[in-house]
Amino acid sequence: MRVATSTTGPLQDLDHWDEFLQGVYPEPPAAEPAVGTFRDYRAEARASVKEFYRLNHLHQTRAFVQAKKREFLPLQRRRMGVWPAMEFLNTLVDDSDPDTSLTQIEHLLQTSEAMRRDGRPRWFILTGLIHDLGKILCLFGEPQWAVVGDTFPVGCAFSDKIVFPEFFATNPDTAVPEYQSELGVYAAGGGLHQVDLSWGHDEYLFHVVKDYLPEPAQYMIRYHSFYAWHREGAYDQLLNERDRAMLPWVRDFNRYDLYSKAETRPDVSALRPYYETLIAEYFPPELNW
Ligand SMILES: [Fe+2]
Ligand SMILES: [Fe+2]
Repeated sequence: MRVATSTTGPLQDLDHWDEFLQGVYPEPPAAEPAVGTFRDYRAEARASVKEFYRLNHLHQTRAFVQAKKREFLPLQRRRMGVWPAMEFLNTLVDDSDPDTSLTQIEHLLQTSEAMRRDGRPRWFILTGLIHDLGKILCLFGEPQWAVVGDTFPVGCAFSDKIVFPEFFATNPDTAVPEYQSELGVYAAGGGLHQVDLSWGHDEYLFHVVKDYLPEPAQYMIRYHSFYAWHREGAYDQLLNERDRAMLPWVRDFNRYDLYSKAETRPDVSALRPYYETLIAEYFPPELNW
């Protein structure tokens, strides 16, 4: 059975969010954000992308995030291997032109193949392969705004470094006095692991795979959509030394995530044996989802 992306939200193609971010954060990400190069992303954004952000910033409250964690993190929905999870994600089809739009598996392979060409470690390539598998949340009926979108802490003040910060005016958490300071409910320097980020595919997949991958891979998966941190440097007050040590990995990963998309279509069946071997090196035959 195929499920259309648009059944769960305004985006006609989940990649319209990624494409929008490529506009907000042009290459090269390794450089520090240049001062004075503000881009007017509001003018350039598609109406559907704006509507997507409006819903995301309206509904992602601390209570919502905690409820989703209780709902999904017991990981009791399915048992599936990594390649079958890729095939499952592939049943999610975007509504834009199927001749030009890549399938979900092709997107994952593009990211991992770019890493492979650069001679990155095997665990790094594997992380590229799997990093978006959490988008199967869409296939469990979750709305787009609770699956994709850049993530941000809840339970403290929303940073103006998050795109479309004005949409937070409608978020019920802005009426909770405890959440209005830079630290909110969190301890200074307590580390990101204690912080609830807006709910989506990053946090979900982190919990599925965390026991099998090295720490930099865990950070790359868990925080790859946390642009306000890894691209804008916001929320420094929440970080601990581990977070600071891992940031270069997250930034390194982002280069491949955001900018490896326009290349050639990968040959899925030719690549499969290589990746099945790589998957088996790190993961058991089945995981809890
Ligand atoms: Fe992602
Ligand atoms: Fe991605």
